[in-house]
Amino acid sequence: MSDKVPVITVDGPGGAGKGTLSQMLATDLGFHYLDSGALYRLLALAAKRHKVSLDNVEGLTVLAGHMDITFEMDPEGGRPTVVLESEDVSSLVRSEEIGKDASIVAAIPEVRQALLQRQQAFAQAPGLVADGRDMGTVVFANAEVKIFLTASPGERAKRRHKQLIGKEENDSLAALANKVRQRDERDERRLVSPLRSADDALTLDSTELSISEVFAQARTLIRDKLSL
Ligand code: C5P
Repeated sequence: MSDKVPVITVDGPGGAGKGTLSQMLATDLGFHYLDSGALYRLLALAAKRHKVSLDNVEGLTVLAGHMDITFEMDPEGGRPTVVLESEDVSSLVRSEEIGKDASIVAAIPEVRQALLQRQQAFAQAPGLVADGRDMGTVVFANAEVKIFLTASPGERAKRRHKQLIGKEENDSLAALANKVRQRDERDERRLVSPLRSADDALTLDSTELSISEVFAQARTLIRDKLSL
């Protein structure tokens, strides 16, 4: 990673709005965008397809280093198309089931190590917005701008529920809230790169804020820190 490429990290729990905020920032600044959660989701899906069980550390680590994936950016600024072995799996990887499996493989240190360089390679000129759980603490620990985006558990469950409606997942709001809570706990309690705010991150609580208000606050921070 070149020191000269400005990096903005957006970390936080699921459903806080990281993806939306990061895509808006990347579009506005003309920067690249890394959806690091998609890498863990892709690994979970690839493991399922190649019949690698979620406790097979060696198999998962090899897969993490070699899986054939591509992110195709949306020129309109939407979520990138995610391709696994030539198949568009953008919709498939978004399910809460794959989210749960992603958080299981994400707790394995060897897997995180195997994905580290793949993530750091996204730091290309003119700059990068990276969204995830450990962007500001580990993967881009020297990033110029770090944001930790949160929202109350109830609000996050509501947002996830809205995203999943019509996607063959018929969980009630209460059931989904439970799954989101379990995934948060797994992400916060794991020993390696747990979900936490970097000491030098700005925490934004989006519970009561619209996405344009969150964007405006993030944009002000970026202007202050990077003069962009
Ligand atoms: O952000 P998203 O919900 O797509 O992430 C799916 C899972 O991938 C998370 O619950 C977390 O376990 C894992 N993840 C991670 N580190 C990241 C991004 C995602 O451990 N940087």
